[in-house]
Amino acid sequence: MLGINLTDKVAIVTGVSSGIGAGVAKVLAEAGCHVAGCARTSEDQDSVKDFIKSVEAFGKKAFYQAVDVTSKEQIASFVESVAREFKQIDLVVSNAGVNVFKGASQCSEEDWTYNHELNLASHWRLAKASRKHLEASSSGVFVVMTSNHAYSSIPGCFPYNVTKTALTGLVRAMAIEWGPSVRVVGVAPGFIDTPGNDKWFNSFPDAAAERQRTIDLHPAGKLGTPEEVGAWCAFLASDFAAFATGTTYLLDGGRSALMQDS
Ligand SMILES: NC(=O)c1ccc[n+]([C@@H]2O[C@H](COP(=O)([O-])OP(=O)(O)OC[C@H]3O[C@@H](n4cnc5c(N)ncnc54)[C@H](OP(=O)(O)O)[C@@H]3O)[C@@H](O)[C@H]2O)c1
Repeated sequence: MLGINLTDKVAIVTGVSSGIGAGVAKVLAEAGCHVAGCARTSEDQDSVKDFIKSVEAFGKKAFYQAVDVTSKEQIASFVESVAREFKQIDLVVSNAGVNVFKGASQCSEEDWTYNHELNLASHWRLAKASRKHLEASSSGVFVVMTSNHAYSSIPGCFPYNVTKTALTGLVRAMAIEWGPSVRVVGVAPGFIDTPGNDKWFNSFPDAAAERQRTIDLHPAGKLGTPEEVGAWCAFLASDFAAFATGTTYLLDGGRSALMQDS
């Protein structure tokens, strides 16, 4: 039987207190990884306890540190804490991010800077901080969570879509510079059912109708799940994906295959 086996690899996942990051952490543990997670939420909160339980449920070690990934110092300190705790880092899933949906005219200088620090620079800084550890691994992989907004967008999603597009360039640049010892890949999820997207649906007068309208745009007939993104990350981290680097993979339930005229 063909199975993904990441037994005793050590993975960093950012943004584990919610949504995709929580799903990725769980699936990586199921595939055999010990998982070190971070987010801004403090350790005593239920969402962090849930992350720890979801990893330990598979008999794997969980580590958590409250980190704001817009802080270069906090990222560096987190990576070094993980290296001290586990003595190795084989995989990083740089996932933490927030929708900064303002529109090009409404976007303030502060929105622009915040979005760039969180949704672009933080991934680069995490990559730099973890590079030496990934190079020391026999199978170092750095996964960047970008978005289907890297390829097409809808009105009002600026400046988020700008940075998610830029991340595909970051993936290419790092893959070229870090290969062959480290593979760098992007994952571009489409609509994944997360608390972040609940906020999006709840911004419409009829959230349930907007949810159904969105589902109907997907040939897959559903929204994606955090675990499906996690499974993609587990595959990309495995030796089955040894030829995958420098590319960002779109995972959108077929939404982009559907022409706009309905
Ligand atoms: N859901 C989708 O449909 C979708 C589609 C395409 C791409 N994505 C991308 O997937 C990633 C996760 O999105 P999601 O939908 O799972 O969102 P979510 O449910 O809102 O979760 C976001 C996570 O990022 C963390 N985070 C936010 N700002 C942070 C900061 N400054 N420092 C550290 N952690 C921070 C949050 O934790 P704290 O609040 O505790 O800090 C949380 O754990 C994002 O990069 C997003 O752009 C999502």
